[in-house]
Amino acid sequence: MNLATDKLAPLAMALSAALLALTACDGNGHAVTANSASAPRKQVLSARAQVGELAFFDKNLSSGRNMSCASCHDPQYAYGPPNSISVQLGSDIKQTGARAVPSLRYKESTPAFSEDAPNPDGVTSNSPGGGFMWDGRATTLAAQAGMPLLNPVEMNNSSKDAVVKAVQNGAYAGQFKQVFGADIFDNTDAAFDALGTAIQALETEDLSFHPYSSKYDLYVFNKIGGVLTPAERRGEVLFHSTGVANCSGCHYTGANFNGNSGLMTDFTYQALGAPRNDRSIPNNPDPIPANDDPKYFDMGLCGPFRTDYMPATPGTAHPYCGMFKVPVLRNVATRGAFFHNGVLHSLEQVVNFYNTRDTNPEYWYPAKNDGTGAPQANPVWALQPTHVPGAAVDRFNDLPPVQQGSIDEELPMGTGEGGDKTLASGTKPRAPGSTPVMTPQQIADLVCFLGTLSDGYQPSSAPSASGRCVK
Ligand code: HEC
Ligand code: HEC
Repeated sequence: MNLATDKLAPLAMALSAALLALTACDGNGHAVTANSASAPRKQVLSARAQVGELAFFDKNLSSGRNMSCASCHDPQYAYGPPNSISVQLGSDIKQTGARAVPSLRYKESTPAFSEDAPNPDGVTSNSPGGGFMWDGRATTLAAQAGMPLLNPVEMNNSSKDAVVKAVQNGAYAGQFKQVFGADIFDNTDAAFDALGTAIQALETEDLSFHPYSSKYDLYVFNKIGGVLTPAERRGEVLFHSTGVANCSGCHYTGANFNGNSGLMTDFTYQALGAPRNDRSIPNNPDPIPANDDPKYFDMGLCGPFRTDYMPATPGTAHPYCGMFKVPVLRNVATRGAFFHNGVLHSLEQVVNFYNTRDTNPEYWYPAKNDGTGAPQANPVWALQPTHVPGAAVDRFNDLPPVQQGSIDEELPMGTGEGGDKTLASGTKPRAPGSTPVMTPQQIADLVCFLGTLSDGYQPSSAPSASGRCVK
């Protein structure tokens, strides 16, 4: 913990300045979450970013003229989805995506994808890291922007030409030409790429994409003691505890390569074995349709959306299968769907998953057979409401058995401490039925700490005396 905060010191001044700039804006000393949709202009964006902003909110850029980037990445929800549905409907209102919508905040400092990326902690050996999307397949924010525009389950345009025509016939065609040249529309590929660079400029310039205005910022960067409540402070200590929760082992809070701190990610890829989001979960409100096919597996780094690490022959183990990017945890408390497949729906559920994935797999994965005796009730936060004693559990059911060696067994899930410990490295999972590493109180404290990462914190609104995160 101290290590992490010490590393933050050089940044404190710059960030305080950024916070001050924000607080100055609304004139009465409150940190505000800038909202590019409705709030008054807080900063002057470059002409390119202004075009990007118009494009980001432009529903004409979808086949049904009903969906913009902001429909899924809503500025009111930290540029994440405005609902708790696991995966969102596309512009054609029939098909859904196969992955949860990430927040677009704090993406500007993501390094380029590399299979041999250094770890910001300076200790852990190099591993796959960086890049955009849950599987890092987009190399830049500009390249990424082209993907949803042409994805049939998202904005569903039939071609680059259709997108470029929509811009050309739209309200900001003149501005587009001013920024990218009078003849930009003559070349479809160039115009399509220009649109991506405009959106990237918005995402990197606009302070509403990286406001650093959370309670956590006030506490860590401004060194204002007493900002966190005792419960939040206990949660913070746990978050950094290498022998218990070990969260910052992956959700790294120190300075990243480009100097940005407190992003709660080391940009690496890990296989946590999130349960399959399908109809094997009783009363599942929104199973992923693609999962109706028992042969379909979303394996992150090794496909299906990126193809460069697919196993050479199907059925051959590949160490990257099941790995997804460690997400930024800022604003995570504003989300309603968690993990790449959106299978969990509360932070309490997420932290309990880490804690009991190995000790009580029957809480998370379906039974393989009947077992014996009467069903027993599982905790309220479990995905499986009941289990039958003696029934074998289909652990890690969102990965084919041959790929399950990638599953991470670091604390708090398994018994491995320090550095990557996967099943393939010989580490044993925590024994079923053994005691989980965290107590219910510790889980509650961690959830309280995660709540301090939401931007737009108003210091003047004192915590209510009865709140569960106070004591
Ligand atoms: C239908 C919902 C939807 C729409 C519309 C949409 N996105 Fe996304 N966005 C997603 C999903 C789902 C992912 C994760 C996809 C993946 O990992 O394969 C994502 C990922 C991203 C990422 C990568 C974030 C990260 O953590 O690496 C960026 C950046 C992004 N979107 C920007 C945009 C932009 C710009 C637009 C408009 C041109 C847009 N999105 C439109 C659903 C949407
Ligand atoms: C071994 C690395 C690792 C450790 C340790 C770890 N995480 Fe994660 N975390 C990840 C990865 C990878 C994901 C995304 C997994 C996926 O989508 O399949 C994730 C996802 C999450 C999410 C969901 C975020 C979202 O946007 O969906 C939360 C919340 C979270 N972690 C909190 C924690 C907490 C709290 C701890 C400590 C108790 C912790 N993590 C420990 C790697 C880790």
